[in-house]
Amino acid sequence: MPVSRVPAKLLAWYDVHRRTLPWRAPRGKRGDPYRIWLSEIMLQQTTVQAVGGYYRKFLERWPDVKALAAARQDDVLAAWAGLGYYARARNLHAAAQVVAKELGGVFPKTAEALRALPGVGAYTSGAIAAIAYDERQAAMDANAERVIARLYAIQTPMPKAKKEIHERGQALVPERAGDFAQALMDLGSAICTPKLPACKTCPLNADCLARKRGIQETLPVKAPKAVRPLKRGAAFVARDKSGAVLLLKRPDKGLLASMLEPPLGPWEEKFPSSNAALKQAPFATEWKKRAGVVRHDFTHFELEIEVYGALLSKRPKTKGQWVAVEKLREVALPTVMRKIVEHGIDEGGPLFAVQTSSARRR
Ligand code: ADE
Repeated sequence: MPVSRVPAKLLAWYDVHRRTLPWRAPRGKRGDPYRIWLSEIMLQQTTVQAVGGYYRKFLERWPDVKALAAARQDDVLAAWAGLGYYARARNLHAAAQVVAKELGGVFPKTAEALRALPGVGAYTSGAIAAIAYDERQAAMDANAERVIARLYAIQTPMPKAKKEIHERGQALVPERAGDFAQALMDLGSAICTPKLPACKTCPLNADCLARKRGIQETLPVKAPKAVRPLKRGAAFVARDKSGAVLLLKRPDKGLLASMLEPPLGPWEEKFPSSNAALKQAPFATEWKKRAGVVRHDFTHFELEIEVYGALLSKRPKTKGQWVAVEKLREVALPTVMRKIVEHGIDEGGPLFAVQTSSARRR
């Protein structure tokens, strides 16, 4: 196949059709590595649409890497709340401190050096190096992988196909590496979509082997879905006279580390009986079980929670913090815990707006 035409065709298409995105530098300009890094961390496992508001909020509050390095971790986690995969926020903060304190505030200038930063893996280091410095890196996210899998009709199932896809992609990278990386992403998002790709308007349609064989919609071949175990438990949403909600901080390691949650019992195969649940409660009071359950999908398991609510005339002596309802949006409450609190409060509708919808579930 005459692959040599592909980069030029794709770049010509990109020059006309490129998306305007908050982190993208104007045509012909290179962006600020801090902004590119921040966007790439946020875009890991999350859609462009979901990231937009968070990206603006972060930049407004922490306009450069020194400002972010000086932030408190709790504030960074709170600003990240709702975006999911919270290890990203902790790594983001840690990486900002490395750049600010050990590297004099200057971002590393190669993919290899970028990769030494917390939270920056093979994909992200390549993406930053390509977009910020035009280093010849393919930087392929899921959109770009789909384009390449189809272009070369790669029928190996994912994730095994990644190696070949990435090698094929890498071999195509031209001098304008940053534009090429983003052009692949944009083509995958606008034209070479998972279902019903718009092949007629695709700049690469004459080169696409999958199209020639009529198999474009079957590629890339997905890995069989792993069965996720279901875990179940009880949560306790206590409110004081003012309506404030009792929240505890999670341990600083593991799932949702250092984030806030209402008191929770253990997560097991079955829900606890009401009697057993009351023994798990943080203190004795008139706990009322709410109708229904809260469901949430994590990457490796599904969770169902029954919620017990209590209105207290007096705050009991117990650990944790009481957070006013209007402050719930400002603290590090992950989406699953927000759903539980809302279910426990249950006064007809969300008390604080749902902020995002991401590609993967959070
Ligand atoms: N996904 C990951 N990085 C991206 C970028 N720079 N532009 C658009 N989508 C992306």
